Amino acid sequence: MSNTRVLINEEALQERIATLGREIRSHYGDEPITCIGVLKGSFIFLADLVRVIGGDVRVEFLGVSSYHGGTRSTGVVRITQDLKHPIDGQHCLIVEDIVDTGLTADYLMRLLAVRGPRSLKICSLLDKPGNREIEVPVDFVGFTIPDEFVVGYGLDLNELYRNLPHISVYTP
Ligand code: PRP
Repeated sequence: MSNTRVLINEEALQERIATLGREIRSHYGDEPITCIGVLKGSFIFLADLVRVIGGDVRVEFLGVSSYHGGTRSTGVVRITQDLKHPIDGQHCLIVEDIVDTGLTADYLMRLLAVRGPRSLKICSLLDKPGNREIEVPVDFVGFTIPDEFVVGYGLDLNELYRNLPHISVYTP
């Protein structure tokens, strides 16, 4: 693919995710964790992450869309699919592929906080602090990346590239 260049290869992804899983498990001790995957981008990361967290883990999905095509955020956050079960009293971990402007994560924190979780934190595979428009606490970060448009390992450009096994920078 001529417009892409590998930023984080498969091996580096798996190595970091294994460490992240241990960090997360050690933070929560033996408590059950409800991992809330934010669709669609987090589906591959979530699948790999829950397998290395270990212990009691619930998996839920939230459908959210904030990019309506192209490489720029529109700033509009839209819920396309809500959680299947209540989360009151549970340790909830929002699992994102990327926190970019922070608008989605901020919106989700506010949306879920009022549902009475025992705790609510965010884990994002990628963090792009250089493009932040709103301050949001990202509790567990896989990789901090520069302000470039990335695809692969769940992240798309107009719905393509999600199936790349690595993270690549896309240059138009
Ligand atoms: C992406 C990503 C995050 C959000 C981050 O989702 O999965 O949810 O954007 O961007 P922000 O910090 O600027 O809000 P997207 O809307 O592209 O949908 P997708 O996950 O279905 O690809």
